[in-house]
Amino acid sequence: MKIITVNVNKGGTGKSTVSYTLAKWLTIVQNKKVLLIDGDRSCNLSYSFSNVGTSSILDIFNGKEPVEIYNVGENLDFIKGSEQLEDNELDLKSKQNNCMLLFMWIADNFQKVQEYDYVIIDTHNDTSLVTSNFLAVADIVLGVSEPSRNGFRAWLELEETLNYLKSQLVDVVSRKTYVTATPYLIANKVDHIGSSSKQFLEMVELQRNYLGMI
Ligand SMILES: Nc1ncnc2c1ncn2[C@@H]1O[C@H](COP(=O)(O)OP(=O)(O)OP(=O)(O)O)[C@@H](O)[C@H]1O
Ligand SMILES: [Mg+2]
Repeated sequence: MKIITVNVNKGGTGKSTVSYTLAKWLTIVQNKKVLLIDGDRSCNLSYSFSNVGTSSILDIFNGKEPVEIYNVGENLDFIKGSEQLEDNELDLKSKQNNCMLLFMWIADNFQKVQEYDYVIIDTHNDTSLVTSNFLAVADIVLGVSEPSRNGFRAWLELEETLNYLKSQLVDVVSRKTYVTATPYLIANKVDHIGSSSKQFLEMVELQRNYLGMI
């Protein structure tokens, strides 16, 4: 089981589109079993699926068991988003383990989660404590960026955020980090003629973990 978190601190770059399309491709074309999680309080992914119940990602952060996982397609399960999934709303700042709540839920439910080939998590465009929970559990972080200076800056910031979490979220005795994700950059919304796309590609192609462009 691999966990892929899709994030970058810039709106509208294509995070939800990549999360959804990747989940569909893995299930339909590659015949893999996928758990898709809407970790964005905007809940854009959640609007893609009707006929789901009231349980949401909020239950994981609030420690409310059992968290219901909904089937939304062949080989595709879903944990719904919530508009209340926000640091202040959850009072995360007052909790000592505020970046590790999802990590702990996965540890508690490892047998169930292990049945999936992939867990894909869509996130909000921020570096909040909520989003840190999604970065902390990841094996891979897909930084979906777009041709703009801010898009490129957001990718650099994502690498920094991940390195910061790696340095902070450690076992207190061994100092071994819990955070093991590798970040990869996807250049999305690249057009064929625009000069900003050309400049952007020149920059991203130099990045060590550049995966490719759409
Ligand atoms: N490769 C692409 N080509 C054309 N349009 C795209 C592409 N990727 C995304 N879009 C469009 O761009 C818009 C923003 O995409 P999306 O909602 O996936 O971004 P997001 O990063 O999840 O945004 P937000 O930060 O609001 O959550 C959508 O209308 C989507 O259909
Ligand atoms: Mg989105």
